[in-house]
Amino acid sequence: METISTIGVCGAGTMGSGIAQLCAQKGIHTVLFDVNETVLQNSRSNIWKNLETLQQKGKISKDACMAIKNQLHFTHELTDCKAPVIIEAIIEQKESKANLFNQLISINNHQTIFASNTSSISINALAASITQPQRLAGLHFFNPATIMQLVEVIKGEQTAPEVITKLVALSQQLGKTPVLCNDAPGFIVNRVARPYYLEALRLVEQGLATVEQVDAIMEASGFKMGPFKLMDLIGIDINYSVSCIVWEALGKPTRLMPSTLQQQKVEVKQLGKKSGIGFYFYQ
Ligand SMILES: NC(=O)c1ccc[n+]([C@@H]2O[C@H](COP(=O)([O-])OP(=O)(O)OC[C@H]3O[C@@H](n4cnc5c(N)ncnc54)[C@H](O)[C@@H]3O)[C@@H](O)[C@H]2O)c1
Repeated sequence: METISTIGVCGAGTMGSGIAQLCAQKGIHTVLFDVNETVLQNSRSNIWKNLETLQQKGKISKDACMAIKNQLHFTHELTDCKAPVIIEAIIEQKESKANLFNQLISINNHQTIFASNTSSISINALAASITQPQRLAGLHFFNPATIMQLVEVIKGEQTAPEVITKLVALSQQLGKTPVLCNDAPGFIVNRVARPYYLEALRLVEQGLATVEQVDAIMEASGFKMGPFKLMDLIGIDINYSVSCIVWEALGKPTRLMPSTLQQQKVEVKQLGKKSGIGFYFYQ
């Protein structure tokens, strides 16, 4: 299978930045697009800092560090986003994603593959709102994208088989382990993980344990991160919106009802690491 030499990534937030850094580290010319100039600048300085840390630790050479930086092109011009594969990692809103895909379809050629990094929006529903549904699939990376091994490759009802074949090959080119799944609420990981967050939130809401106690116990029992540290890393807004979407898509079962505590955090913009405060404080 032909390797991919250019990729477009839309959205330079937590996930888009990580995915772009990963692609550049694998020698792929990467165009990273965001509508927000400040977000783009922050993304660039975070990626530069990450690469320099890798260099200081001796994991990459000075030349490799420079070569990776040269693979990255940061832009707020959508028309720069032309590539055989475009990975979308913008806000978790179906209308915004569909609107972006329709614009991308109009400026790219007919072979371009469109992959959404959505955590929870139905690929079928998204496909129904775009003009080329057969060229859309889910490509769900985990945070941090440079480190986490797993990628879910999500097939919608209309996704062309060759799109899935190419996305599996791309995941392997990026050094990841792709797992195929059909479109379903929360796909695999976010469906299985929902109770981990929700039960932890309920324990704290009901005054039965503190955030720190829940995290300490879960980490002591073998989880790499307690649920509150993980929500802070993911972004509390993103995690809350995934909970709402999965709950609604499954017919609003009581056991998966979204948490009021989490909703309140979103309302006061305490979103976790990215806003400096969430369930914990960050400098
Ligand atoms: N945070 C996680 O741990 C995680 C993990 C897996 C998947 N995801 C998914 O990845 C996507 C992005 O999540 P995130 O945590 O990086 O969000 P984020 O809030 O950190 O970043 C979203 C970015 O999208 C940009 N944006 C908004 N509208 C845009 C548009 N029309 N065009 C271009 N850029 C636009 C914003 O400026 C922002 O920089 C979401 O779909 C989310 O569900 C998130």
